[in-house]
Amino acid sequence: MGEMLRPAGPIVCVVGARPNYMKMAPLIRAFRECRGLPGTVLVHTGQHYDLAMNERLFADLELPAPDLNLEVGSGTHAAQTAEVMRRFEPVLDELRPACVVVVGDVNSTLACSLVASKKRTPLAHVEAGLRSFDRDMPEEINRLLTDQIADLLYTTERDAAVNLAREGIDAARVHFVGNVMIDSLLAHRQRATPPERTLAKSNADSSIVTSAAGFGAVTLHRPSNVDSPDALGEALAILCDVAARVPLVWPVHPRTRANIERFGFASMLAGARIVLLEPQGYLEMLGLLVNARLVLTDSGGIQEETTALSVPCLTMRENTERPITVSQGTNDIVGRDRGRVLACVDEILRTGGKRGRVPELWDGKAATRIAAHLETWLAARASALEQRAS
Ligand code: UD1
Repeated sequence: MGEMLRPAGPIVCVVGARPNYMKMAPLIRAFRECRGLPGTVLVHTGQHYDLAMNERLFADLELPAPDLNLEVGSGTHAAQTAEVMRRFEPVLDELRPACVVVVGDVNSTLACSLVASKKRTPLAHVEAGLRSFDRDMPEEINRLLTDQIADLLYTTERDAAVNLAREGIDAARVHFVGNVMIDSLLAHRQRATPPERTLAKSNADSSIVTSAAGFGAVTLHRPSNVDSPDALGEALAILCDVAARVPLVWPVHPRTRANIERFGFASMLAGARIVLLEPQGYLEMLGLLVNARLVLTDSGGIQEETTALSVPCLTMRENTERPITVSQGTNDIVGRDRGRVLACVDEILRTGGKRGRVPELWDGKAATRIAAHLETWLAARASALEQRAS
């Protein structure tokens, strides 16, 4: 049998960090339900390794345990990216996959894409085409480069195709399928953990989430907000001001927690109505988002989740790669502009804030659409290769 006619290997699905898991879970399910697709192998790069950042999310999302864990751990961007590449290459040599599927924009996404592409293994990028136009964000570099080399670009919103066309990417590679992260949200929404249970499990005072005044939910972990004392100090001062109006619940990312300690900022939060929690599982986080009166965040995914849930979101960044959450959803971009944040918070507390509408194809079926498309695409590719070989 010629090299080209080897039986197709599996679909290698890559995850590395927390925001990948909720995107990959529905994809794995849909791939496994699709008879015409080869089997899946789930590779975890080990970029995130803490229990709270990993196992609990896998269990909540019913994501099968990874078949392989490359255990790369933390490092500088170069070191982490290089280590993922070094350890992923022999996996592809051994498995000879039919294709590699990557999601999102973390370092593991780009690292595995580079390896797959150079081996001419078909590469699918799920959540392609989002752009913040801000190269100070490491994720922007990961998005730009992954999209350049992917064979299949599955997008969550129509504007993504405009971004990709501007970068010279052939429209034939681009497929608007909707948002797999919203597949996870809709599948698990009914099972969200009530906030009072989440706080009680952490021995925190749960009256904060049961009182009629309601509460706000916070997440903050972008280097631009938490890596310098100036930025983090500003962000914490804003949170304290907001907490004077509405109590806050904040599951703290390890990067942020480490910097609060390092800069000696813990005392800034003392006395504020802010409950600090460890990073939470998916169902706990969902429970906090569903029940919050407002959300303050610098996350990418949470901007979309709040839009899907119709909960007002204030994004503490200067820009977003997810503009549809502003134009159609419940999101406002507020940076670290104290006056703007407080004006928005007051408005939300008074009126309930933006209601928004749920964007096109954020309907819980994106992964099924991707599986169906991939099945057709891989079959067409296989028969083209066969013809060429005969
Ligand atoms: C990464 C992603 C970011 C994503 C975020 C979600 C990149 C460039 N960034 O950022 O897009 O929004 O994940 O969480 O890929 N750490 C732990 N335990 C862990 C993982 C990290 O303590 O399990 C600490 C380490 O001190 C590490 C730091 O967090 O140095 C940063 O981790 P890293 O994976 O480099 O980036 P994140 O900030 O998590």
